[in-house]
Amino acid sequence: MRTDRQESVLGRPARAPWALELGAHDDGGGMPAGFSVSGVALPEPGPARDGILATIGNTPLVRLRRALGGVPFRLYAKLEAFNPGGSIKDRPAVRIVADALAVGEIDAGTTVVEASSGNMGIGLAQVCAYHGLRFVCVVDNRTTAQNIHILQAYGAVVDVVTEPDPETGDLLQAKLDRVRRYLETEPSCFWPNQYANRNNSRSHHRTMAEIVHQAGGRVDYLFCATATCGTLRGCAEYVREMGLPTRIVAVDAVGSVIFGGRSCKRLIPGHGTARVPELHDPALGDRFVQVTDRDCVAGCRRLLREEAILAGGSSGGILMGLDALRHEIEPDATCVLVFPDRGERYLDTIFSDVWVAEHFGAAQLEAFLPPQPTR
Ligand SMILES: Cc1ncc(COP(=O)(O)O)c(C=O)c1O
Repeated sequence: MRTDRQESVLGRPARAPWALELGAHDDGGGMPAGFSVSGVALPEPGPARDGILATIGNTPLVRLRRALGGVPFRLYAKLEAFNPGGSIKDRPAVRIVADALAVGEIDAGTTVVEASSGNMGIGLAQVCAYHGLRFVCVVDNRTTAQNIHILQAYGAVVDVVTEPDPETGDLLQAKLDRVRRYLETEPSCFWPNQYANRNNSRSHHRTMAEIVHQAGGRVDYLFCATATCGTLRGCAEYVREMGLPTRIVAVDAVGSVIFGGRSCKRLIPGHGTARVPELHDPALGDRFVQVTDRDCVAGCRRLLREEAILAGGSSGGILMGLDALRHEIEPDATCVLVFPDRGERYLDTIFSDVWVAEHFGAAQLEAFLPPQPTR
């Protein structure tokens, strides 16, 4: 039964029982011309894919109209959470393994070994499971139980490093040392080396191509988070190769060393790193902005409340990085934010009032809400 669209008291479409009706429009010729949920058009479903890895990429670009309380420029987010492994790191994972298989660098007897506490590990675990390859993921004792369970569900061997490198006091260095030990002692090991592997950055030429296409051909500003700098480098290389006018803003964590400064403790994983990645090239981005853990929490909560997007920590940081520069952006510009992952893996931290109160103070909870109603 169709009902007229209803508005909630907030001016948003109300969630009515009919909201879940799924119907196909009839174009008069008897063939379904498109799908709708209660009159809201959905994209064409597209053809069947040949295996789960063929669903990586082609993630949606969505318009953000409320997140910053109304900005004069066009604002979009590229939702990399739509990748099957839940993050942008599916792209480099599938490309690195496919390339190594194609050139014979790995075969059915190879063990893939990588240091990652999160998204890259999960992306590789998925790709290795698909190809039937053994995968050892070297994590540290800050890795969440949920990520360890996801890795194990994909069949990965999880090797937990508990002691930091004695010289640097750094856990990342200790994890990389553990990876090297595998390479020296086990036969037929392959290390994707996400911090240096050019197939990491090359996988994002496609990310940028999708964005430009989806945004209608012109992107004036691209904001992306940095850790290995694969996203930054790949998008920037594509922009340069195609002669596009896009200005690229790198969003890094306060306490990360990529753009200088000293490494210090950070609460939110994903963006930021304690060592400058080989993929980093200072000439690639047009500018950078650093965001705090607090910015990430504020941005994530704002995205959830204003846009109903449950996004991961770096996405919130990117939003707040843009907020810091919003007055420099021309009113007719098109601005795209690359959101790397989804929020489910942050339910015990960013989206937990208890955790937020513990780390930022209970009085701060209100401060994480938007300053005023924006609709
Ligand atoms: C949540 C999240 N944000 C940002 C990044 C940074 O992306 P890149 O490694 O391409 O610099 C990562 C990388 O793992 C990530 O997991």
